[in-house]
Amino acid sequence: MTKQFSRILAIETSCDETSAAVIENGTTILSNIVASQIDLHAQYGGVFPEVASRRHIEVIYPVVAQALEEAHMGLDDLDCIAVTQGPGLVGSLLVGVNMAKGLALGRGKPLLGVNHIEGHIYSLWLTDAADEIEFPILTLVVSGGHTELYLMTGHGRYQHLGGTLDDAAGEAFDKVGRLLGLPYPGGPAIDKAAQNGSPTAFKFPRAVMDDGFNFSFSGLKTAVMRQTKKFNPDRLPVNDLAASFQAAVVDALVTKTERAAQAYGVTAVHLAGGVSANSALRREMNERVDLPVRVPPLALCTDNAAMIGAAAHWHFVNGRRSNLDIDVIPSMELV
Ligand code: KG4
Ligand code: ZN
Repeated sequence: MTKQFSRILAIETSCDETSAAVIENGTTILSNIVASQIDLHAQYGGVFPEVASRRHIEVIYPVVAQALEEAHMGLDDLDCIAVTQGPGLVGSLLVGVNMAKGLALGRGKPLLGVNHIEGHIYSLWLTDAADEIEFPILTLVVSGGHTELYLMTGHGRYQHLGGTLDDAAGEAFDKVGRLLGLPYPGGPAIDKAAQNGSPTAFKFPRAVMDDGFNFSFSGLKTAVMRQTKKFNPDRLPVNDLAASFQAAVVDALVTKTERAAQAYGVTAVHLAGGVSANSALRREMNERVDLPVRVPPLALCTDNAAMIGAAAHWHFVNGRRSNLDIDVIPSMELV
């Protein structure tokens, strides 16, 4: 396929990262600025929506200015302004969407509203493997808000095969992190604690008994809670609990992914989203799936605007444009 040209400024503010990036041709990162709010929300043990949107307002302008400066570009050099339209927190999304609308209107540039999940999926096009990608692909998106398996048959063409029936994988990591007294966000903290624990110390439920492609993590979270209550809080075997919980999540994710990969004859398995940073998930997926398994670099697993720019490229070259009066869609679906 011949390469089609685009230079896109992308903006992402769906949750607790304020990010702006300039992406060329959907694959090259000219800049990608991420202002994380983790320190701000750590005291609440999770994202505080009001606080998140206020911080987005404070930093959006300098973040966009820095993304343009690092890319050595002015607004007039761009072909399009892309922004996360949903899913996400309404107040947070509004800040990015209004900034993007203002820039597009002010400079007469096309605007593209992008689905955040599709952004995660396109983080794989920002890797060295971009030229090797051949459809159909199976993509597992595992983040704080989603755990979804998609069959991707072409650019922008998705079939939803399954998803979580209750908690998302990242949500389970964050809740269990809190139970174990680990700092927010729980995912990276559990990943770290698990390195010094035994994955077989406790036997937690897998919830993979049915033959479909859905997931369920709330029973697992309850099982961990019950187990923690058996210990004196000062003597909690945090590392073993973390390793055993992580092993249960990873086993469920890999089992279903492996099953779907076989059922649909895909060329590769892609992992995306914050939980795809998990070291045990990356290792086990590689060991158990008999196909190329591709993962984004760690910096592109969690929320960032570069992935939004990558997804926007394919829409842009296919002629899609959003109206300048788009609204945020907090529960936006991909398919
Ligand atoms: O994609 P993301 O940045 O935001 C959403 O779209 O939700 O994902 C954030 C989630 C959090 O739940 C966080 O705990 C989890 O990704 N996460 C991890 C790891 N790094 C981040 N979970 C497990 N292991 C990790 N290393
Ligand atoms: Zn995300």
